[in-house]
Amino acid sequence: MDNTPRFRFRFGPLLAGCALAVAGAAALAQADEPLQPLPEQKFDLRKVALGERLFSDKRFSTDGTVACISCHSFQHGGADPRPRSIGARGAVGAVNSPSIFNSGLNFRQLWNGAVTTPEGVIDRVVKSPTVFNSSWAEVLGKLTQDGALVRDFAGAYPSGLTAASVMNAIATYQRSLVTPSRFDAWLLGDKGAITADEKKGYDNFKKYGCVACHQGINVGGNVFQKFGAVGDYFKDRVARGQPMTDADKGYFNVTRLEDDMHVFKVPSLRNVALTAPYFHDASAATLEDAVDVMFKYQLGRTAPAADKALIVKFLHTLSGTLKAAQ
Ligand code: HEC
Ligand code: HEC
Repeated sequence: MDNTPRFRFRFGPLLAGCALAVAGAAALAQADEPLQPLPEQKFDLRKVALGERLFSDKRFSTDGTVACISCHSFQHGGADPRPRSIGARGAVGAVNSPSIFNSGLNFRQLWNGAVTTPEGVIDRVVKSPTVFNSSWAEVLGKLTQDGALVRDFAGAYPSGLTAASVMNAIATYQRSLVTPSRFDAWLLGDKGAITADEKKGYDNFKKYGCVACHQGINVGGNVFQKFGAVGDYFKDRVARGQPMTDADKGYFNVTRLEDDMHVFKVPSLRNVALTAPYFHDASAATLEDAVDVMFKYQLGRTAPAADKALIVKFLHTLSGTLKAAQ
């Protein structure tokens, strides 16, 4: 059967939109995109440097075994390749560790959005039994014995080394960890920065409706959505042998409202090709698997394998390089 007319019907409005954009200013065409390039930001470099030192400092964990970097690996897009991270005293976490990169630009922190600022996350991980299992009294007790660190904090903060300045230094470093990618270059007008196939993948990402949830500067990270918007993801997962956990309740654990059951922060897709396994429950081992799950449970539709493969190609253009803080 010749399906050309259906094809024309589906793509007609999109092509008309493109023609209009071409007729207008090129800069306007970029501003119209549902995805946006990383913003230029300025940081206090002394605070960034202090935060960088503390990011790999194991004195935060009660038994001296783990640092932030243990679960936010720079070789894995700022995330943890293990389905569950291992904290102090071998404690196993409840969810997969997400990427630290670009996370300062997310509207909320953590999978369920329970925390609003990077500083708040640090306060939480210090005390969390599955992360550092410590307290500020214990952490500051160790850090204040370090003369060089005390001196350098005094140089950067009028208050010197305190819980607040430690949180601010690490959070400032975290905010500086941004990874411009080939896709940012394309958004900024470099038409050769992505290939024709990758561009088709981006068009599919928009056409099938991924952008309805994964949008803005971080290709996600700015709205809440139910995991299983159009199908019972959790029921099917339990049937496959991965039981329900408290963490699966998502934003419900924050608000206790039935409407928020299984609602999660839509994660950023920046560097997603590097951050396997996928989802808060680490249930998808590969990016291809994750995209299949999204089609089934978030969009409720199927797509030709070739269209999905192009989307995966597009997602690879979001792998970036850490930019030195300015
Ligand atoms: C033992 C492993 C582990 C350590 C150590 C650890 N984290 Fe995490 N981190 C996680 C896990 C797991 C999550 C997801 C928790 C959740 O969403 O409930 C997470 C989430 C985060 C997030 C949220 C990102 C987002 O986009 O939602 C930030 C930011 C973060 N960690 C920063 C840090 C910093 C800074 C440190 C050190 C002070 C640190 N982490 C130490 C495992 C760890
Ligand atoms: C209705 C909203 C919605 C739509 C549409 C949607 N997603 Fe998602 N996406 C989510 C949510 C929510 C999660 C987090 C689920 C979880 O782990 O709890 C997610 C997670 C992901 C992840 C895993 C990220 C990670 O770090 O683990 C990938 C990859 C992804 N989506 C890609 C896509 C693609 C590609 C499409 C289009 C085919 C799409 N999404 C459509 C809401 C959506």
